[in-house]
Amino acid sequence: MTTASAPGKIILFGEHAVVSGVAALGGAIDLRAKVTLQDLPGKVLIETEDLALSGFSMDLITGQLMSSDAVHATRYVSAALREFEIRDISVKIESDIPPAAGLGSSAAIVVATVTAINEHLGLGLSRKEIASTAYHIEKRVQNGLGSQMDTALATFGGYCRVTREVQPIDLPQLDLIVGCTKMSHDTFSEVEKVQRLKECYPDVVEPIFQAIGAISERAVPLIREQEMSRLGELMNLNHGLLEALGVCTRELSELVYAARNVGSALGAKLTGAGGGGCIIALPQTGPREALMAALRQARGSAFAVKTGCEGVRLESDS
Ligand code: MEV
Repeated sequence: MTTASAPGKIILFGEHAVVSGVAALGGAIDLRAKVTLQDLPGKVLIETEDLALSGFSMDLITGQLMSSDAVHATRYVSAALREFEIRDISVKIESDIPPAAGLGSSAAIVVATVTAINEHLGLGLSRKEIASTAYHIEKRVQNGLGSQMDTALATFGGYCRVTREVQPIDLPQLDLIVGCTKMSHDTFSEVEKVQRLKECYPDVVEPIFQAIGAISERAVPLIREQEMSRLGELMNLNHGLLEALGVCTRELSELVYAARNVGSALGAKLTGAGGGGCIIALPQTGPREALMAALRQARGSAFAVKTGCEGVRLESDS
């Protein structure tokens, strides 16, 4: 039996603008997806557990009932099994990363699967090879859409700065609160919408991208020096620019304003592609209950995360 686990991620700054090559900053979080492989002669079985389930579908041939999140997760695992031509195996997926929320759950599942396969079959892949194989698998399943940031953070952990390429960057841990709209989103259509705006109004949208890139660059020393109130201001500025790009929704705005006004957050912004998904809020030091309660009152779910966490690892209890 071989088990590997990999972290989810949040984008701290720079989403959408990064598509045009300006800097973005992301961090691995302390929510993980775990994949366990076990030999099972004559079968290929994929089981899911502990996914935040929503919606159901039924396999009319076997009569088996599955959640759409489970179906989603199994697509990534079966693509990884096909990549390595693996049969006679059972795969168990457990994850505490909310799926389809922009928190890197599919990248974490793919990276954990490739790492477990690498160990189980003794393939000797390096971490760099694991990250790039996982990136290509994720991109294939998502019909050509995939972010190198997600698979890099799931593999190496910590933080990375992304422009046209992904560079690891050494920064201290941050404590953040995630507020989730519980509405899934379509990254492809949000990216397309912003890119169309850029084509129509390059003289307006390109300066917005440049400003977002400048925010990502300015954030790095502030995180290093733990200048939290200024970091919060940059989050608010970045959120305003994402609003201007049209990727914010009423539900995301309500969470952002609840975090800032009722929850006294130092700053709050949407994270990821927008159109649904999550926001991140930077809490004041001290208890975070008021901030979490404010997000729940605004009809979101709320949980605390740490950033800059460990990348993929083999689990020793296997
Ligand atoms: C989506 O998680 C982040 C975007 O910037 C798209 C991308 O970087 O591929 C919106």
